[in-house]
Amino acid sequence: VHVNPTALTTASADTYRHRPIYNNTAKHSSNSWTFNKTLSHLIRKNILRFLDPERDISILKGTLKPGDIIHYVFDRHSTTNISENLYRLLPTVSPMKNQHYRRCAIVGNSGILLNSSCGPEIDSHDFVIRCNLAPVEEYFQDVGWRTNLVTMNPSVVQRAFQDLVTNEWKERFLRRLRSLSGSVLWIPAFMAKGGEERVEWALRLILLHTVDIRTAFPSLRLLHAVRGYWLTNNVHIKRPTTGLLMYTMATRFCEEIHLYGFWPFSLDPQGKPVKYHYYDTLKYEYTSSSSPHTMPLEFRTLSTLHRQGALRLHTGVCG
Ligand code: CTP
Repeated sequence: VHVNPTALTTASADTYRHRPIYNNTAKHSSNSWTFNKTLSHLIRKNILRFLDPERDISILKGTLKPGDIIHYVFDRHSTTNISENLYRLLPTVSPMKNQHYRRCAIVGNSGILLNSSCGPEIDSHDFVIRCNLAPVEEYFQDVGWRTNLVTMNPSVVQRAFQDLVTNEWKERFLRRLRSLSGSVLWIPAFMAKGGEERVEWALRLILLHTVDIRTAFPSLRLLHAVRGYWLTNNVHIKRPTTGLLMYTMATRFCEEIHLYGFWPFSLDPQGKPVKYHYYDTLKYEYTSSSSPHTMPLEFRTLSTLHRQGALRLHTGVCG
């Protein structure tokens, strides 16, 4: 079995501009899916040519010191300094060192999860990855609880926790972090300028309240390496989304990878409206040329990999 790079992009992104790719959810939820171990091993091997997720998942303490200057990955002309707090929270060894799991779930944030009853199924995986500190408590029946790794873009501090302006927001943020006890909190602090203070506020709270989480800060080369892998496979993404980053990295640690909550379309397969996020009212222009992402193209790629058995996309109800 080999990956056919051109098979990933047989139709132009425009084809999918106004409608979901799948008119039939059964495609993603049927039991006919079988895991293609050979292909998934080949994908892992090819990804390892571009990045080593075990290493690139986080900068390590030994490689930097407080005060060091970092150029942002996407804003090369802007810089930031490694703060004392950030330095203290850098791991000394990779948080994923020697970790291997049989079945992993990656949970995207699409509203397609609402009323899916997928919570127990998601939680049954050996390792569960979530994105951007998405809430679980009120939605556990559909999204589950279990979290082994969760990402936090600096913008989340503003969007979901009001920049921690009041004690109440700080408390909410801390509650969310405490509920993650033992998990990895993955903070892409050096991607784009503008989030420096937000990251600092969050780190200060983590240290002040000795929250039991393992922080990780992706390497500066991760994004370009991930993009490079997909470009080489003829998938012309602009900037990989958190979801695609997580899939690409998870290939290193996981045998079978199951994706939930990936649905970058405003209508479900039956034509009913779908929220962009299952938990808020954020609107998103999936195909806007000003967006940094190319989500429908990513989805189409993931769908192809689903059909080939390299991963499993779940877009229907669980049961
Ligand atoms: N996602 C999706 N369909 C949606 C919403 C999200 O497929 N309607 C996937 C994307 O891969 C996304 C991930 O779920 O990266 C997490 O969602 P979100 O927190 O909304 O990510 P973004 O806001 O897009 O942030 P980023 O720029 O980090 O990707």
